[in-house]
Amino acid sequence: MSLAYEEKPDFVASGSVRVRVPAKINMHLGVGPLRDDGYHDLTTVYQAISLYDDVHAHRSDTLALTIDGEGAGTLPLDDDNLAVRAVRALAAHTGLPAHARLHITKSIPVAGGLAGGSADCAATLVACDALWGTGLSRDELASIAATLGSDIPFLVLGGTALGTGRGEQVNPVLAAGTWHWVVGVAAGGLSTPAVYREIDRLRELGTAPDPAGSADLLLAALRQPDPEVLAAVLVNDLQAAAVSLRPQLRATLRAGLDEGALAALVSGSGPTCLYLARDAEHANALAASLTSRGVCRTVRTAHGPVAGARVTS
Ligand code: C5P
Repeated sequence: MSLAYEEKPDFVASGSVRVRVPAKINMHLGVGPLRDDGYHDLTTVYQAISLYDDVHAHRSDTLALTIDGEGAGTLPLDDDNLAVRAVRALAAHTGLPAHARLHITKSIPVAGGLAGGSADCAATLVACDALWGTGLSRDELASIAATLGSDIPFLVLGGTALGTGRGEQVNPVLAAGTWHWVVGVAAGGLSTPAVYREIDRLRELGTAPDPAGSADLLLAALRQPDPEVLAAVLVNDLQAAAVSLRPQLRATLRAGLDEGALAALVSGSGPTCLYLARDAEHANALAASLTSRGVCRTVRTAHGPVAGARVTS
């Protein structure tokens, strides 16, 4: 349905839309065996946390992308960028021309296991849907997102969610309150496919830890308020692989525990490390201690859950 001009939201009239999108972490990442299609079956619990990228989409008669902020100079500006692919996928779905001028302001670390590229993709889908007035539902956007990458549907949704399949099937779950995290960003990234290949290799050698399997313990811990209970059940099957490829992560994780973190784990495929804190004050103190230890390139604090990709203006 098309709206009369005067009924259109301001961003449509002004020809520009800004969308804020969070980073994701995996509080439980259970990795199953390698499938025939090259993916692994996952049982994962995602949480969206308060580290954000901004995507500003303007009306245009071409498709163009510029980026500033964290890691900007290292990112592609062509079809290798998931945001550009998002414009094309939404255009193909709606029959509209793939026209938008995008500007991304990044503060989510690149190639860090926080899904920054996927976040920009999710934000671009939401932004172009608003800019073009196509009005797709979140479910429709999530199904386009699933064709672009496994964790992109979650970033359209946000909050806390159980992910199954290759991670693209997401269902919201109940989380009792707010959890406080310290995010330790390592220098340099890790390639996600390389980390998955490494867990397969370690499993073949028989040196990988037992698979995490079901997320039931984590889901139960989310329904109660004590962070110590949550700390005891955080698990990531990819951690052994990330540590194998980047052995210094062992010391990075250890440093957080030494400084009083309730738990330390690698985020997704790494190399970013996550530390669970008791509360916001504890997170700030922990971040300060980790910064002075110099074990991470950057240390940030964040809380979750927060909303997924949302239009802000
Ligand atoms: O889906 P996405 O493009 O984000 O996946 C990147 C890579 O991560 C895949 O090509 C695959 O190597 C690996 N992957 C996997 N199993 C998953 C998700 C990702 O093996 N469930």
